[in-house]
Amino acid sequence: MALEKLNGVELPAAADMHVHLRDGDMTKLVIPTIRRGGVNTVFVMPNLVPPITTVHHALDYKERLQALEPNVTFLMSLYLHPNISPETVIEAKQKGVTGIKSYPHGVTTHSDHGVMSYEPFFPVFAEMERQDMVLNLHGELPPSVGEDVTVLNAEEAFLPTLLDLHKRFPKLRIILEHCTSAAALKAVQSCGPTVAATITAHHLFMIVDDWAGDPHCFCKPVAKLPSDRRALLKAVVSGDSKFFFGTDSAPHPATSKRGEKFAAGVFTQPHAVGLVIDALEMGIETGVLTADDVTEEKLANFLSHYGRSFYKVADERNERIILSKPAKPIEEILKTEDGKIEVVPFRRGRMSWDAIWK
Ligand code: NCD
Ligand code: ZN
Repeated sequence: MALEKLNGVELPAAADMHVHLRDGDMTKLVIPTIRRGGVNTVFVMPNLVPPITTVHHALDYKERLQALEPNVTFLMSLYLHPNISPETVIEAKQKGVTGIKSYPHGVTTHSDHGVMSYEPFFPVFAEMERQDMVLNLHGELPPSVGEDVTVLNAEEAFLPTLLDLHKRFPKLRIILEHCTSAAALKAVQSCGPTVAATITAHHLFMIVDDWAGDPHCFCKPVAKLPSDRRALLKAVVSGDSKFFFGTDSAPHPATSKRGEKFAAGVFTQPHAVGLVIDALEMGIETGVLTADDVTEEKLANFLSHYGRSFYKVADERNERIILSKPAKPIEEILKTEDGKIEVVPFRRGRMSWDAIWK
């Protein structure tokens, strides 16, 4: 095992800065998997239908999540939408909503209400900058007829928009969510300290060949080329505070993965921390990284400290997890008690590292 040295190592509990927890029975199924994955703080992107665009709804949703799991800190976001005005931003800040997430129109799950153009939102962004709120960007350019934009280059094609927003609102904290390409990492690096990016566990494993043919590996943005995967693995152990953990765990009922047009989203929550260690091991085994690249300090920073510090949230729970080498495989399926909803986890049946609560 390439990272045997991590067995028994203690880390601060992870902060997962990009999760989808859904509603109703699906939420009840998913919520206990947050702590199972070694995580005690999550940034929630509700992505519900209809989208959450008011502070009242966001807080109501948060209360429901908190009632189901009192031992997790839930940081909340609104869905960027014409309903949101500068006044909404002021109210959101006052009442403890952390960020606003932008989904470009039509690029991912539930993005029918997404953004067509950023310009109408400039007054909202200006107020967010004044209020020191976080703008979370799903960074993909929607496909448009006649243009050479596909799932493969939609992220790269979005990067000029990221740079433009940063230039217009230099103090606005912006996160390029779930970045998947070497080009995106480079663009984020070229920005000032107010711009950061989340990296998922699944994008450390996958390339195009993995999702072409397997709906459980299909998510947006899609995994890209081996060179992009190499760049992501290196970013995790780079020690650069611009890059931190956000799983983008996105559970979908197995039925909507079996349909003719399957839903985008990969479910990684139950093994959030373990999968990162698994991926780094794969990186070592394939010669992308060395075991020396992976240190306790870099893991603690990527998984816990950098995200909290970008979001300016204290580690109020002050809990620790212990890494334990793979002892059992990832479950094939998770089911609600009544068996009505089934969700298939990423890398089902494979061995994965465990995060045990101290
Ligand atoms: C997410 C979902 O299912 O809510 N899907 C995904 O493929 N990542 C939405 C999103 O973050 O794009
Ligand atoms: Zn997401």
